[in-house]
Amino acid sequence: MPDDCDEHDPDDLVGHLPVLPAEVIELLDPKPGQLLLDCTAGRGGHGALLIPLLGPGGRYIGLDMDPGNVAYSQERLGPIAEASGVELEIVHANFREAKWVLERRGIAGVDGVLADLGFASNQVDDPARGLSFREDGPLDMRMDTGSTITAERLVNTLPEGELADLIYEFGEERLSRRIARKIVEQRQREPITTTSGLAALVRRAYPRPPRSSAPARSKGSGKSRGRGKRIDPATRTFMALRIAVNDELGALDGLLADLPGLLKPGQLNAGGRAAIISFHSLEDRRVKRAFIGLGQGEGFTVLTRKPMTASEDEARQNPRSRSAKMRGIQRTG
Ligand SMILES: C[S@@+](CC[C@H](N)C(=O)[O-])C[C@H]1O[C@@H](n2cnc3c(N)ncnc32)[C@H](O)[C@@H]1O
Repeated sequence: MPDDCDEHDPDDLVGHLPVLPAEVIELLDPKPGQLLLDCTAGRGGHGALLIPLLGPGGRYIGLDMDPGNVAYSQERLGPIAEASGVELEIVHANFREAKWVLERRGIAGVDGVLADLGFASNQVDDPARGLSFREDGPLDMRMDTGSTITAERLVNTLPEGELADLIYEFGEERLSRRIARKIVEQRQREPITTTSGLAALVRRAYPRPPRSSAPARSKGSGKSRGRGKRIDPATRTFMALRIAVNDELGALDGLLADLPGLLKPGQLNAGGRAAIISFHSLEDRRVKRAFIGLGQGEGFTVLTRKPMTASEDEARQNPRSRSAKMRGIQRTG
């Protein structure tokens, strides 16, 4: 499950701490003069660490589907790139289009690819984006604010069966049919337009736990997590809608399919490296399967037998890092 309980300083303008910072550097091992493609530039957190290592003479191309984060990371990283002698460009694009972004620039392959999946904290923490139910907001959930599909549209227009399948598949929510029924009953009275309205409705679909019972186990029960910490019953439904609105798994599949062709073969163990950080099992399973498949063929080596995860220190300082899993692969031939 993605961590919704990111606690950063609301006055911090960056609004996001990069996860696994030392591990990303270790895995990608960037060298002066190399070209790095950051598929998820976000708030420029990883960029700020990686760009100085590419200079002098390197190049950093960042992608992001959120125009706000494109503008922010361009502004934040500009001075760092200049000081490091690195060419910088941040492009408003979905990473499923990475191949075309490179082709349009006449680039045949890059030395490193980074993808830090999901949302940045500044997006989750902005109630106007409707990504979290901690505060009330519109049922939006778009990463790309120019796209026309919102959570409100899905919730109020999808047939009941499709809604149930979506909540089951992307949220791994075993009460998906009940929740979809409640949604349809409610929208027949009036459209569902707010995060708090949807969260309250999902909670009503859950049976109340008996008062005296110990916290239930995590998966599918929607009741607990970790050391008895309960998760809100709405968490899985929100996660499912966010994945659907942004076609997150479709984009990841597209990136994984194109990845082998994006990477230049590494030389003397440098370059040709890709690192993907995922935050829930639906993503990690795909990355793991794709990397194992590549590793079984010629010319690719899996760099992480087990995914890299946050140290206790990092998990304490940056709660979002607790669910991060990073896998790496290298094109060797
Ligand atoms: C976890 S944040 C990345 C944070 C970044 N590594 C940093 O340290 O600041 C993910 C970012 O990727 C963007 N994003 C998510 N999926 C994307 C996709 N399919 N294509 C392009 N950008 C995407 C989001 O808009 C968000 O800004």
